[in-house]
Amino acid sequence: MDTLLANTPSADIWSSFRTINAHRRAVRDFDGSAIADEDVRAILAEAQLAPSSNNLQPYRFHWIKDPALKREAAAACHNQRAAGGASALIALVADSALCRRSLDGLAGHIESCPGLGDASKTYHRTHLKTLRRFGSIGALPLWTPLMALACAIAPSCSMLPLGPSGTRHWAARNSLYAAQTLLLAAAAKGLDSCPMEGFHGRKLARLLKLPRGTVITLMVALGRRAPDARIEPRWRIPFDAAVLVH
Ligand SMILES: Cc1cc2nc3c(=O)[nH]c(=O)nc-3n(C[C@H](O)[C@H](O)[C@H](O)COP(=O)(O)O)c2cc1C
Repeated sequence: MDTLLANTPSADIWSSFRTINAHRRAVRDFDGSAIADEDVRAILAEAQLAPSSNNLQPYRFHWIKDPALKREAAAACHNQRAAGGASALIALVADSALCRRSLDGLAGHIESCPGLGDASKTYHRTHLKTLRRFGSIGALPLWTPLMALACAIAPSCSMLPLGPSGTRHWAARNSLYAAQTLLLAAAAKGLDSCPMEGFHGRKLARLLKLPRGTVITLMVALGRRAPDARIEPRWRIPFDAAVLVH
């Protein structure tokens, strides 16, 4: 077991996790009470700890605080009531171009981190060089026809981060781990949330002044559930249909 958890009885950890996971529901009716900035910051800091491919973190959180912008953003979420009533509104934005920022940051971290030995540093330097090389050719449009052909033969190739579309999907996929961590972190703070993919992407991108090539993967509404919030009874596919044991 991880040393961070070694001194906590595992039943307590499991019970806490289940409580948090049960509290996290898609809540669309909020009570309108304010959320302290420090709580939003704390939740976002936890979301940042989500795993990502090669630790490249190809996404950003846009915390939409300005009231006028928030109103416009909520309207761009097709006026969904979760967006309109949210105490805090966050857009998760993915962009494979952000990898350059991460690679530079990682390079600095590797050189200055006292916890990494010489062998680890050498390994990471070589790996970063490979990632940089891949980053400079992976998003080239020339991959598009090659990928179309490859995917026609083997559909599983569509998951490869090659070509503008493939790298965008890869970045989006990575951002969703952060999204789920955000939702659970909010629940752990006693807050409620609603993830939303029902929005007008181009309108939102314009409002947030996003560069071309970025994608908004998810909008997240945060707040506290209203006393009369309508929360559907929970349903999931039966366990044995969802889990196949090989
Ligand atoms: C990717 C994604 C997109 C979603 N988009 C919306 C949305 O636009 N509006 C909404 O009200 N709920 C949205 N939801 C919430 C789902 O409807 C909800 O998670 C699902 O019904 C299960 O309910 P639960 O989250 O309470 O367990 C979305 C959830 C996910 C993961």
